[in-house]
Amino acid sequence: MVRYDFPKYEIILDLEEDIYFPADDTFALIDAIQLEDNHRFVIEIGSGSGIISIVLAKSNPKVRFLITDISLPAVKNIKKNIEINEIRNTIDLVCMDKLEASINLYPDVVIWNPPYLPMGDETENIKALDKVMVIGGNKGFEEAFKLMQYLKSLNINVILYTIFSSIGTSESTFNTIRETEGIEVIVCSEVNLFFEKLYLVKVIIGEINGKKIKTES
Ligand SMILES: C[S@@+](CC[C@H](N)C(=O)[O-])C[C@H]1O[C@@H](n2cnc3c(N)ncnc32)[C@H](O)[C@@H]1O
Repeated sequence: MVRYDFPKYEIILDLEEDIYFPADDTFALIDAIQLEDNHRFVIEIGSGSGIISIVLAKSNPKVRFLITDISLPAVKNIKKNIEINEIRNTIDLVCMDKLEASINLYPDVVIWNPPYLPMGDETENIKALDKVMVIGGNKGFEEAFKLMQYLKSLNINVILYTIFSSIGTSESTFNTIRETEGIEVIVCSEVNLFFEKLYLVKVIIGEINGKKIKTES
């Protein structure tokens, strides 16, 4: 375990070896998220070190957070980081697969920096625990897409902040999602990395300004 200082976000985190180390995707997602005055309940899936929700919870004390991760080592690490940053009052923490164990939870905002790389020759030999952190399916975006469909099935108005990689995704993927799913996809920012571009995406599910988004019939 090593203790790190993140001065830009004014937090300190203990980071265990087997959890996802905050990186460019993490920081870009934190910077893209905008909580509004009427947002009261945020769920973050796959929180890793807990950094995203911890940063947001510190600057949004009226918002309730539920943090999840499928990895037990990650959840134990997040618990420690919540304690170090003294924000136990507004954050709940559970170990679960996406939102599988939740019933009747209606968040205003869901956040997920998902595993977004496609399965392929380069990723085939990664060890199982690391695969959970980085591989999102054959094309890479399947995990995020499944979550969108699940949130849509709840019939609520909810905003999802997530990430797509240019490996396996293009602008036309977003058009297809808009047209077939009736979900608004807004690219908030793009981050150019060495071998890929990341799309930081705000997905609006339900209604925008009282209007239901139309799907292609
Ligand atoms: C790319 S890492 C992001 C970690 C952290 N949010 C960040 O941005 O630094 C993806 C995280 O999602 C978790 N994860 C993967 N599949 C999951 C699932 N089905 N349900 C919940 N968490 C999952 C992994 O354990 C990992 O911590």
